[in-house]
Amino acid sequence: MQRPSAVISAFLIDVALMCSMLATTALGADKVELSVDVSKSGAKIDRNIFGQFAEHLGHGVYEGIWVGPDSAIPNTRGIRSDVVTALKALKVPNVRWPGGCFADEYHWRKGIGSPRTVTLNPNWGGVIEPNTFGTHEFLDFLDQIGAEAYVSVNVGSGTPQEAAEWLEYLTTAQPTTLAKERAANGHPAPYKVAYLGIGNESWDCGGNMTPDYYLSQMKAYSRFVRNFNPAQQDKQQMLKIAVGPGGDGPRWTEWTEVIMKAYQQHTWSWDINGLSMHNYTVGQWPPSYKSTGFGEAEYAQILKFTLEMEGLIAKHSAIMDKYDPEKKVALIVDEWGGWYAPLPGSNPGFLVQQNSMRDAILAALNVNIFARHGDRVRGANIAQMINVLQAMIMTDKEKMVLTPTYYVFKMYVPFQDATIVPVKFDAGWYTHSDVALPRVDAIAAKDTNGKLWLEITNVDPNQAVDIEVSFTGIAPKSAAGETLTAPKVDSVNTFEAPNTVVPKPITAKVQGGKLALKLEPKSVTVISVEP
Ligand code: AHR
Repeated sequence: MQRPSAVISAFLIDVALMCSMLATTALGADKVELSVDVSKSGAKIDRNIFGQFAEHLGHGVYEGIWVGPDSAIPNTRGIRSDVVTALKALKVPNVRWPGGCFADEYHWRKGIGSPRTVTLNPNWGGVIEPNTFGTHEFLDFLDQIGAEAYVSVNVGSGTPQEAAEWLEYLTTAQPTTLAKERAANGHPAPYKVAYLGIGNESWDCGGNMTPDYYLSQMKAYSRFVRNFNPAQQDKQQMLKIAVGPGGDGPRWTEWTEVIMKAYQQHTWSWDINGLSMHNYTVGQWPPSYKSTGFGEAEYAQILKFTLEMEGLIAKHSAIMDKYDPEKKVALIVDEWGGWYAPLPGSNPGFLVQQNSMRDAILAALNVNIFARHGDRVRGANIAQMINVLQAMIMTDKEKMVLTPTYYVFKMYVPFQDATIVPVKFDAGWYTHSDVALPRVDAIAAKDTNGKLWLEITNVDPNQAVDIEVSFTGIAPKSAAGETLTAPKVDSVNTFEAPNTVVPKPITAKVQGGKLALKLEPKSVTVISVEP
């Protein structure tokens, strides 16, 4: 009974989009005008929206990060040097670890000292988990790339005591038995832990809990899992992230309601600073869209799905606003990205997929959504960093290749901690078959030095777009930056051809106080504006 009306409303939406598109076409508006008001400012784009996620899954950690000190692949204390160099350029703010679903079966003591306990990884292919990459190796890796720790503790099969002892081991400066063990294992000084994830997807792989059951578990973890690092008591306090929704249906709105309602009435004995949200661009479960070898139809469909992030954030933010109007609790989108069919011949439990020009556009559209919701979205972690899902980097033994998504993250570095500046535009429409998408997307922001940056995405895979930017508050003298595009929507970088999708320089013309530039089809462009 539900289905016919759902079809009708989808049809009505498409008709509305089409009408709007026809109106744009009738005006002959193939130029898109942006107006940027530098005299006004919005929320900060928290640099933590550029966070990464490294789960013990497939070759994400083993081979992707960890090759071991005896490897012929150049490494520092077992951590591969090429990957470290590439990640440093992204200024990665934080890395979420050890999972994912893996986190709720992870027992930290198996990953310290020597010899390590060899276990299994039942979630991801049932392979051997050697535990050679554990607490110290993770924090050494973070130190090498200059990122902060987002540690997810085990709520599903662990206990508050186990998690509390892990945090004492990590953070205390006092000479407890655990601190002495940490020192004996090579790190006398306390570690900094910036984020604590209290469980992962506790509604599903994390233990299939009801919201109320999770809530009582979460309160106990919030109470007992303490960070003792003296440098994190007044300033830089560890932020506690509760499990939040995984979609937009009633199951997920109920979850957000239950946690946020409890938060509103929370007492001195427990607290949270963030609510996690997971949202993959998948189309359908099991993931069946191809990651390469697809055409324009799949390009348009996947981008349509990815734009659902906007509505999802708006919906859960509205619930959070009811119970937390001061926006003390951040919405942390700590798993997002494209999730496609496993590459033929790969272990399906390893979630191996290619990364194409479509993913570069997808990444830019999502980051822009997060940036526009900067008052509430103060963290996000793309899934995942290396060799898994929408990765930054792919490796094969000694070889490494940087993906189109890597280059998007690199181009966006100036937006880390920048302040949003309002930009208005009529995007127009790109249509393919029954899919209509805004043709252009854009954000503007001032970086921490006051320099103005613009990002403009041309979603249309066929038509270049002429962009004209006018300004209130500055008179531009010049503007230049980089643009990322590729021959095809499914173009990828491979070990054999690593430079198919790489950024190239772009310069805007200044005409009568306005900027003019032509953006290639399916492109992501970042420019800075000199006043
Ligand atoms: O990123 C892969 C998996 O997706 C994570 O382990 C889990 O949290 C989510 O379902």
